[in-house]
Amino acid sequence: MKTLVIGSGAREHAIAWALSRRGPGGAKGGRASERRERVFCAPGNAGTEGIARNLALDPEDPKAVVSACAELGIGLVVIGPEGPLAAGLADALAASGIPAFGPGRKAAALEASKSFARSFSERHGVPCARTERFSSLAALDRYLDENRGRRVVLKKSGLAAGKGVLESDDRAELRGFGEAVLAADDLLAEEYLVGRELSVFALCDGRDWALLPACADHKKAGPGDTGPNTGGMGAVCPLPFADAGVMERITRDIVAPSFAGMEEEGLSYRGVLFFGVMLTAEGPRLLEYNVRFGDPETQSLLPLLASDLGSLCESAALGRLASARPAFSAEVACGVVVAAPGYPAHYPKGLAVDLGLAEGSAGAGQPEIDVDGIPGPEALLFHASTARDPAGQLRTGGGRCFTAVGLGPDWPTARDRAYDLAGEVRFEGAWYRRDIGTRIFGS
Ligand code: AMP
Ligand code: GLY
Repeated sequence: MKTLVIGSGAREHAIAWALSRRGPGGAKGGRASERRERVFCAPGNAGTEGIARNLALDPEDPKAVVSACAELGIGLVVIGPEGPLAAGLADALAASGIPAFGPGRKAAALEASKSFARSFSERHGVPCARTERFSSLAALDRYLDENRGRRVVLKKSGLAAGKGVLESDDRAELRGFGEAVLAADDLLAEEYLVGRELSVFALCDGRDWALLPACADHKKAGPGDTGPNTGGMGAVCPLPFADAGVMERITRDIVAPSFAGMEEEGLSYRGVLFFGVMLTAEGPRLLEYNVRFGDPETQSLLPLLASDLGSLCESAALGRLASARPAFSAEVACGVVVAAPGYPAHYPKGLAVDLGLAEGSAGAGQPEIDVDGIPGPEALLFHASTARDPAGQLRTGGGRCFTAVGLGPDWPTARDRAYDLAGEVRFEGAWYRRDIGTRIFGS
């Protein structure tokens, strides 16, 4: 079957890589030329070029995607980012009879509107931080006066690529942020929650769902979780503190009531639902829903998947998840994001990249991978929005340029492999956090 991956990030590179591991009829691996005939990316990047065929399509143009699918005989579309989902791509594909992994526009509002998501979780008894909504500066001023000196979290209601949130106790900073958001969108304020944060993913086929191992992202730019919020600077999987008891509690309090609520409201959800969860002293609290896989979590999660990703996504898209349960290897994964200078504020694009020994990792030069995990790769480099210029020089195209993933039987091995690989990625001003996973696994 031919599969199309929508997106151009490192998450989509990881998805395309996982999809390309099996050939027709479930055969393992396959020559690069064969893989490129069954996995397509729109638009993809210089990394996906080696394992898939890139299509120059606008992912937020549902008509263009549908007609490319019809032309190429695509049997499944896996939608990576939230933008195309919020633009109704899954609805357009469904209307044309093309199976899609990703929810329709109505359910995508769980991410595209934090205001809608909060009302939904309140309606269905999903525990969250205490939340207030504002549409005027006067109301925000009153709230800030009442909460003077207290740490609070302000959030833009609409999509913001991980940058629509400010945690602060500085009234002037909060007011400035709130004023800028209110000029274009609704604003939410939440009590500041303290605890361990984790990313929980569940595949869903509209009725049945299956939980995947929990991951931890590192949202802050600086060491020790300091500095501004980013889209995520690294992720680890699995988490030693997310034991069976913790996952049962999260399932009972958050995951199950969310899916029950969706069924009740007729939101047929086919894809992956991402629960951002804070484990507080009072129990787990939902921070947010995302209607897609996490980035960078996916880059650490998918290399551990021992089942075939294509079959799982197809089962979710076709309402047959009950017959396809995901299995994972017992390895540990550490993913380190290599970012552009200045990210998450202003950063240059088009920087020339030298990959050194990392050239070919998760690309055309990658050796055949045994899907059952033996012997799996030791490290994988996933590209985000990279491109080759006419002279063949690899160039950056975004803020979070690469994710270097290390895999191993234990934490120190996975971490060392990730950092050895990240160190091979060279471009002017390249930087990464040196402490990914440290708070979770110890040094
Ligand atoms: P969100 O986009 O809602 O996930 O927020 C981005 C990040 O801000 C989260 O991953 C948390 O690290 C942090 N955050 C969001 N809401 C809260 C909250 N109520 N209390 C503490 N931290 C929060
Ligand atoms: N890593 C957080 C996100 O994908 O939203």
